Amino acid sequence: MIWELMRITRLSSERDRRAAAALMAASDPWLALGLRKEHCLKTFGVPYRETYAAREGGEIAGFVVITMYGTFRGYIQVLFVAPGWRGRGVGEELMAFAEGKIFARSPNVFLCVSSFNKGAIRFYRRLGYLKAGVIKDFFIKGSDELLLRKTAGPLREFKPGQKGKTHVKR
Ligand SMILES: CC(C)(COP(=O)(O)OP(=O)(O)OC[C@H]1O[C@@H](n2cnc3c(N)ncnc32)[C@H](O)[C@@H]1OP(=O)(O)O)[C@@H](O)C(=O)NCCC(=O)NCCS
Repeated sequence: MIWELMRITRLSSERDRRAAAALMAASDPWLALGLRKEHCLKTFGVPYRETYAAREGGEIAGFVVITMYGTFRGYIQVLFVAPGWRGRGVGEELMAFAEGKIFARSPNVFLCVSSFNKGAIRFYRRLGYLKAGVIKDFFIKGSDELLLRKTAGPLREFKPGQKGKTHVKR
Protein backbone atom coordinates (compact mmCIF):
# COMPACT_ATOMS: atom_id res chain seq x y z
CA MET A 1 0.00 0.00 0.00
CA ILE A 2 1.50 3.31 -1.11
CA TRP A 3 -0.02 5.54 1.58
CA GLU A 4 1.99 8.60 0.53
CA LEU A 5 -0.42 8.83 -2.42
CA MET A 6 -3.59 7.83 -0.56
CA ARG A 7 -5.68 10.43 1.28
CA ILE A 8 -8.77 9.99 3.45
CA THR A 9 -11.02 13.05 3.24
CA ARG A 10 -14.68 13.94 3.70
CA LEU A 11 -16.83 12.98 0.73
CA SER A 12 -19.34 15.74 0.16
CA SER A 13 -19.96 16.69 -3.48
CA GLU A 14 -23.04 15.36 -5.28
CA ARG A 15 -20.81 14.02 -8.05
CA ASP A 16 -18.78 11.98 -5.54
CA ARG A 17 -21.94 10.70 -3.84
CA ARG A 18 -23.30 9.48 -7.15
CA ALA A 19 -19.99 7.79 -7.99
CA ALA A 20 -19.91 6.12 -4.55
CA ALA A 21 -23.53 4.95 -4.85
CA ALA A 22 -22.84 3.46 -8.30
CA LEU A 23 -19.83 1.54 -6.92
CA MET A 24 -21.87 0.15 -4.02
CA ALA A 25 -24.85 -0.84 -6.14
CA ALA A 26 -22.59 -2.83 -8.50
CA SER A 27 -21.05 -4.86 -5.64
CA ASP A 28 -22.13 -7.50 -3.14
CA PRO A 29 -23.55 -7.42 -0.53
CA TRP A 30 -25.82 -4.64 -1.90
CA LEU A 31 -26.26 -6.45 -5.23
CA ALA A 32 -27.26 -9.69 -3.50
CA LEU A 33 -29.64 -7.79 -1.20
CA GLY A 34 -31.33 -6.11 -4.17
CA LEU A 35 -30.35 -2.60 -3.05
CA ARG A 36 -30.09 -0.42 -6.14
CA LYS A 37 -28.23 2.79 -6.85
CA GLU A 38 -31.14 5.03 -5.75
CA HIS A 39 -31.24 3.28 -2.35
CA CYS A 40 -27.44 3.47 -2.00
CA LEU A 41 -27.53 7.18 -2.84
CA LYS A 42 -29.89 7.82 0.10
CA THR A 43 -27.16 6.55 2.45
CA PHE A 44 -25.11 9.70 1.78
CA GLY A 45 -27.92 12.26 2.00
CA VAL A 46 -28.68 11.86 5.73
CA PRO A 47 -27.43 14.99 7.61
CA TYR A 48 -26.18 13.19 10.75
CA ARG A 49 -24.00 10.77 8.78
CA GLU A 50 -20.38 11.44 7.83
CA THR A 51 -18.73 9.90 4.78
CA TYR A 52 -14.97 9.66 4.40
CA ALA A 53 -13.32 8.44 1.21
CA ALA A 54 -9.85 7.03 0.57
CA ARG A 55 -8.58 8.36 -2.73
CA GLU A 56 -5.56 8.13 -4.88
CA GLY A 57 -5.57 11.11 -7.23
CA GLY A 58 -9.18 11.49 -8.29
CA GLU A 59 -10.01 7.81 -7.93
CA ILE A 60 -12.18 6.63 -5.03
CA ALA A 61 -10.51 3.50 -3.61
CA GLY A 62 -13.07 3.08 -0.81
CA PHE A 63 -15.22 4.85 1.72
CA VAL A 64 -16.76 4.57 5.15
CA VAL A 65 -20.03 6.09 6.38
CA ILE A 66 -20.48 6.67 10.12
CA THR A 67 -23.43 7.79 12.25
CA MET A 68 -22.74 9.67 15.48
CA TYR A 69 -26.37 9.96 16.57
CA GLY A 70 -28.90 7.97 18.62
CA THR A 71 -28.56 4.93 20.87
CA PHE A 72 -26.15 3.22 18.51
CA ARG A 73 -23.98 6.27 17.94
CA GLY A 74 -20.67 5.17 16.55
CA TYR A 75 -22.45 3.04 13.95
CA ILE A 76 -20.57 2.22 10.75
CA GLN A 77 -23.31 2.32 8.16
CA VAL A 78 -21.17 1.37 5.18
CA LEU A 79 -17.64 0.16 4.56
CA PHE A 80 -16.75 -0.29 0.92
CA VAL A 81 -13.52 -0.87 -0.98
CA ALA A 82 -13.58 -0.79 -4.80
CA PRO A 83 -12.94 -4.27 -6.29
CA GLY A 84 -9.54 -3.36 -7.76
CA TRP A 85 -8.34 -2.12 -4.36
CA ARG A 86 -9.45 -5.04 -2.17
CA GLY A 87 -6.97 -7.10 -0.20
CA ARG A 88 -4.43 -4.23 -0.09
CA GLY A 89 -5.18 -2.77 3.33
CA VAL A 90 -7.56 0.04 2.30
CA GLY A 91 -10.42 -1.47 4.34
CA GLU A 92 -8.23 -1.76 7.40
CA GLU A 93 -7.05 1.86 7.05
CA LEU A 94 -10.63 3.11 6.65
CA MET A 95 -11.66 1.16 9.77
CA ALA A 96 -8.74 2.62 11.74
CA PHE A 97 -9.78 6.10 10.58
CA ALA A 98 -13.45 5.56 11.51
CA GLU A 99 -12.55 4.03 14.89
CA GLY A 100 -10.31 7.03 15.62
CA LYS A 101 -13.24 9.40 14.97
CA ILE A 102 -15.74 7.31 16.94
CA PHE A 103 -13.63 6.41 19.99
CA ALA A 104 -12.79 10.10 20.46
CA ARG A 105 -16.51 10.71 21.06
CA SER A 106 -18.06 7.39 22.16
CA PRO A 107 -16.89 4.06 23.63
CA ASN A 108 -18.59 1.77 21.11
CA VAL A 109 -18.28 1.02 17.43
CA PHE A 110 -21.26 -0.85 15.99
CA LEU A 111 -21.84 -2.26 12.53
CA CYS A 112 -23.96 -4.85 10.75
CA VAL A 113 -22.71 -7.47 8.34
CA SER A 114 -24.81 -9.85 6.26
CA SER A 115 -24.60 -13.49 7.35
CA PHE A 116 -23.57 -14.57 3.82
CA ASN A 117 -20.67 -12.05 3.68
CA LYS A 118 -18.09 -14.49 5.03
CA GLY A 119 -15.01 -12.53 3.86
CA ALA A 120 -16.21 -9.37 5.62
CA ILE A 121 -17.08 -11.34 8.80
CA ARG A 122 -13.51 -12.71 8.86
CA PHE A 123 -12.17 -9.19 8.26
CA TYR A 124 -14.15 -7.68 11.18
CA ARG A 125 -13.25 -10.57 13.52
CA ARG A 126 -9.59 -9.94 12.77
CA LEU A 127 -10.10 -6.30 13.76
CA GLY A 128 -11.55 -7.33 17.13
CA TYR A 129 -15.31 -7.10 16.50
CA LEU A 130 -17.60 -9.42 18.46
CA LYS A 131 -21.16 -10.47 17.73
CA ALA A 132 -23.66 -8.44 19.78
CA GLY A 133 -26.86 -9.73 18.17
CA VAL A 134 -28.60 -11.26 15.19
CA ILE A 135 -31.36 -9.54 13.20
CA LYS A 136 -33.22 -12.33 11.42
CA ASP A 137 -34.38 -11.97 7.80
CA PHE A 138 -33.64 -8.22 7.86
CA PHE A 139 -33.33 -7.29 4.15
CA ILE A 140 -34.36 -10.55 2.54
CA LYS A 141 -35.66 -13.88 3.83
CA GLY A 142 -32.89 -16.32 4.67
CA SER A 143 -30.22 -13.66 5.23
CA ASP A 144 -29.60 -12.28 8.70
CA GLU A 145 -27.73 -9.15 9.70
CA LEU A 146 -25.14 -9.75 12.42
CA LEU A 147 -24.75 -6.78 14.75
CA LEU A 148 -21.06 -6.50 15.69
CA ARG A 149 -19.50 -4.32 18.36
CA LYS A 150 -16.04 -3.23 19.42
CA THR A 151 -15.88 -1.43 22.74
CA ALA A 152 -13.49 0.70 24.76
CA GLY A 153 -15.62 0.13 27.92
CA PRO A 154 -18.95 1.02 29.53
CA LEU A 155 -20.70 4.29 28.61
CA ARG A 156 -20.71 5.57 32.20
CA GLU A 157 -16.92 5.35 32.40
CA PHE A 158 -16.28 7.04 29.07
CA LYS A 159 -14.79 10.52 28.97
CA PRO A 160 -15.41 12.27 25.63
CA GLY A 161 -12.23 13.42 23.94
CA GLN A 162 -10.12 10.68 25.52
CA LYS A 163 -7.68 9.07 23.16
CA GLY A 164 -9.52 6.48 21.14
CA LYS A 165 -8.63 2.82 21.13
CA THR A 166 -8.10 1.55 17.62
CA HIS A 167 -7.54 -1.94 16.34
CA VAL A 168 -4.26 -3.79 16.49
CA LYS A 169 -2.42 -3.98 13.19
CA ARG A 170 -1.58 -7.32 11.63
C1 LIG B 1 -14.68 -6.28 3.32
C2 LIG B 1 -13.80 -5.18 2.73
C3 LIG B 1 -14.28 -3.82 3.21
C4 LIG B 1 -12.37 -5.41 3.16
O1 LIG B 1 -11.57 -4.35 2.63
P1 LIG B 1 -10.11 -4.68 2.05
O2 LIG B 1 -9.45 -3.40 1.69
O3 LIG B 1 -10.22 -5.72 1.00
O4 LIG B 1 -9.49 -5.28 3.34
P2 LIG B 1 -7.98 -5.38 3.74
O5 LIG B 1 -7.10 -5.43 2.54
O6 LIG B 1 -7.71 -4.34 4.75
O7 LIG B 1 -8.06 -6.80 4.41
C5 LIG B 1 -8.30 -7.94 3.57
C6 LIG B 1 -9.28 -8.83 4.25
O8 LIG B 1 -10.60 -8.53 3.86
C7 LIG B 1 -11.34 -9.73 3.63
N1 LIG B 1 -12.03 -9.66 2.35
C8 LIG B 1 -13.35 -9.69 2.26
N2 LIG B 1 -13.74 -9.62 0.99
C9 LIG B 1 -12.60 -9.51 0.23
C10 LIG B 1 -12.32 -9.38 -1.17
N3 LIG B 1 -13.31 -9.37 -2.08
N4 LIG B 1 -11.03 -9.28 -1.58
C11 LIG B 1 -10.04 -9.32 -0.67
N5 LIG B 1 -10.25 -9.42 0.67
C12 LIG B 1 -11.52 -9.52 1.11
C13 LIG B 1 -10.42 -10.89 3.73
O9 LIG B 1 -10.80 -11.57 4.92
C14 LIG B 1 -9.05 -10.28 3.87
O10 LIG B 1 -8.43 -10.84 4.96
P3 LIG B 1 -7.20 -11.84 4.72
O11 LIG B 1 -6.16 -11.05 4.00
O12 LIG B 1 -6.86 -12.24 6.10
O13 LIG B 1 -7.80 -12.96 3.88
C15 LIG B 1 -13.82 -5.18 1.17
O14 LIG B 1 -13.43 -6.42 0.72
C16 LIG B 1 -15.16 -4.79 0.57
O15 LIG B 1 -15.43 -3.60 0.36
N6 LIG B 1 -16.00 -5.77 0.27
C17 LIG B 1 -17.28 -5.51 -0.37
C18 LIG B 1 -18.19 -4.66 0.49
C19 LIG B 1 -18.39 -5.27 1.86
O16 LIG B 1 -18.61 -6.46 2.03
N7 LIG B 1 -18.37 -4.38 2.85
C20 LIG B 1 -18.64 -4.75 4.22
C21 LIG B 1 -20.11 -4.65 4.42
S1 LIG B 1 -20.52 -4.92 6.11
